[in-house]
Amino acid sequence: MAKLAVLISGRGSNLQSLIDAAADPDFPAEIALVVSNRPKAQGLARAAKAGIKQSVIDHKDFETREDFDAALSEALRMAEVDFVCLAGFMRILTPQFVNDWRGRLLNIHPSLLPAFRGLHVHERMIDAGVKIAGCSVHFVSSEPDAGPIVGQAALTVQPGETAETLAERILELEHKLYPACVRLIVENKARLSGGVVVYDRSVASSGAVLNPPEN
Ligand code: GAR
Repeated sequence: MAKLAVLISGRGSNLQSLIDAAADPDFPAEIALVVSNRPKAQGLARAAKAGIKQSVIDHKDFETREDFDAALSEALRMAEVDFVCLAGFMRILTPQFVNDWRGRLLNIHPSLLPAFRGLHVHERMIDAGVKIAGCSVHFVSSEPDAGPIVGQAALTVQPGETAETLAERILELEHKLYPACVRLIVENKARLSGGVVVYDRSVASSGAVLNPPEN
């Protein structure tokens, strides 16, 4: 059984979707550790409720990103983690950390990357008048919200849609997409190869990569 660490900074609804997915005995991974860089992150209560080990590594306690990432690495090593999932984790990781975890470090972002990286994504999409929106799970590279895409899920923007309604509807997709992508990676049905993600033939022909079915 593969061991995951989920890194959060806030609400933790994507953490919850991974906790729920991992509760299924058929899911190929367990969450061995939840790390938050904010002591008051709501997601910590979700980890506690699920009986998952948690660690608060407050970025304010560290002078440099390197020191913070060293503490993070140590926590991951102690928990013998195989894969790391960023789930609303709002810290930029050092190139060294990203390199150490290459092919085993995932992020979820509420846009169809490479469009709309960064913050205030839903407002920016509404302001731009996009007609199709969605979310992406990708391997992390040293640039924020960038890196080889594992899976995306899309929706059409409705008349009268606001940033709030869009965020809510995309979040529903996120909660299906992340566990589906984690499963693909952990089962080695999708993997990083030469800077892109390659899939087993079974995955490519099932349509599971885009708009994944209910878990
Ligand atoms: C999610 O919408 C996630 O995609 C986004 O933060 C939110 C966290 O919500 N991540 C990013 O914007 C990364 N750049 P959650 O704490 O409820 O999972």
